[in-house]
Amino acid sequence: MVDVEKFRVLIVDDVAETRENVRKLLQFESDIDVVAAARTGREAIQLCQEANPDVVLMDINMPDMDGIAATEAIRQKMPAVQVVILSVQGDQNYMRRAMLVGARDFLTKPPMPDELVAAIRRAGKMAREERAKSIQVYAATQGSPNRPTTTTLTTRGKIVLVYSPKGGTGCTTIAVNLAVALHNQETRVVIVDANLQFGDVAIFLNEQGKNTVIDLAPRVDELDPEIVDSVMIKNAASGVHVLASPSRPENAEKINADQFSKLLRYLRHLYAYVIVDSSAYLTDVTISVLDIADAIVLIATQDIPSIKNDRLFLDLLLTLNVPTDKVTFVMNKYDKRIAISPEKVGENLKQRVMAVIPLDERTVIPAANRGVPFMLDNKNAPAAKGIYTLVEALRAKLVKRDMEESEAITKR
Ligand SMILES: Nc1ncnc2c1ncn2[C@@H]1O[C@H](COP(=O)(O)OP(=O)(O)OP(=O)(O)O)[C@@H](O)[C@H]1O
Ligand SMILES: [Mg+2]
Repeated sequence: MVDVEKFRVLIVDDVAETRENVRKLLQFESDIDVVAAARTGREAIQLCQEANPDVVLMDINMPDMDGIAATEAIRQKMPAVQVVILSVQGDQNYMRRAMLVGARDFLTKPPMPDELVAAIRRAGKMAREERAKSIQVYAATQGSPNRPTTTTLTTRGKIVLVYSPKGGTGCTTIAVNLAVALHNQETRVVIVDANLQFGDVAIFLNEQGKNTVIDLAPRVDELDPEIVDSVMIKNAASGVHVLASPSRPENAEKINADQFSKLLRYLRHLYAYVIVDSSAYLTDVTISVLDIADAIVLIATQDIPSIKNDRLFLDLLLTLNVPTDKVTFVMNKYDKRIAISPEKVGENLKQRVMAVIPLDERTVIPAANRGVPFMLDNKNAPAAKGIYTLVEALRAKLVKRDMEESEAITKR
């Protein structure tokens, strides 16, 4: 499992610069991992459920919901999570209110690095002790020790399609590393290879399992969590589950779009994220995913054919009535020597580039050849920083869509 020993930290602040400063302060602490950042109180609550932090560093004054109300909600929903308030207000009154709603500690901004790290370690230990207690209670109420690793989720997971209409732009690289970055013990991730002829997701993770999507898709109407669990390849290095493409290209035809999309809809009850990697060629299978995807990560590189194809793809979404606000637009293999900038591409396609992943041959190519995603063992590499930005942008997009959806439901 990844980083089980590290204290997982969520930063909450509406000012990007403050979030970045705090992240920088913590980046060299080997026992601390910043797993997510939120801009508002509401986003903090949502991200807490997804990213499962031990410690939340919480600002007080934020738009929509302030840090005190967010702390109260987090402590009620997830009592093990510990909140450290970081605020410019040195005021006793704030401190008292924060403590009353369950905050663990209170630091004045900007925090002294030593104080901040010490506060995170104290709160992190407390979070672990609380978790250990609740696990003991849970274990005492459960029967069989051989329960499958797949259990049903209470909320619906998110289907994220990673797509590029031009081949070789880094779709599989991004899908695999995104899956690794999103996965943790509580937020379980499966990556599904929708490139049914020449899929290479399993290779990127150094897995040569016998089981593939052929073992699930044709019997999609009779699935249960145990069958799914028995077919999934469990990548030990990352914890991510993998549903590989058929072992021979001619077997691709054995799966139709209807089975495939039903299968993904089933999987979202078992995993917090279902990441789908696809080929550039738009098959019926990929088209069926456009409709059910909660988010589409669309990739561009700095060349005209890629940009032209992205434009055609965005037009196609409109034709198919798929909302283009599902798209999180990413530039991969970014090379600052090339004049086509992310801003220009964003303007041209009317889709802002939300994350830029640099051209980083020293990291990306060896990682693919070794079958070890760089998000596992090379988290400070330039390409890894790009993936973190993508994770943040994607989470923010999903939170926003969720809020809009629930507002629409309450208005009905
Ligand atoms: N940011 C990057 N920096 C350097 N090399 C990269 C980067 N992203 C991807 N690559 C390299 O580009 C090549 C294509 O990447 P990848 O296989 O992920 O693309 P793809 O879009 O999935 O391709 P396909 O169309 O074959 O499915 C690989 O050699 C990969 O290592
Ligand atoms: Mg690929």
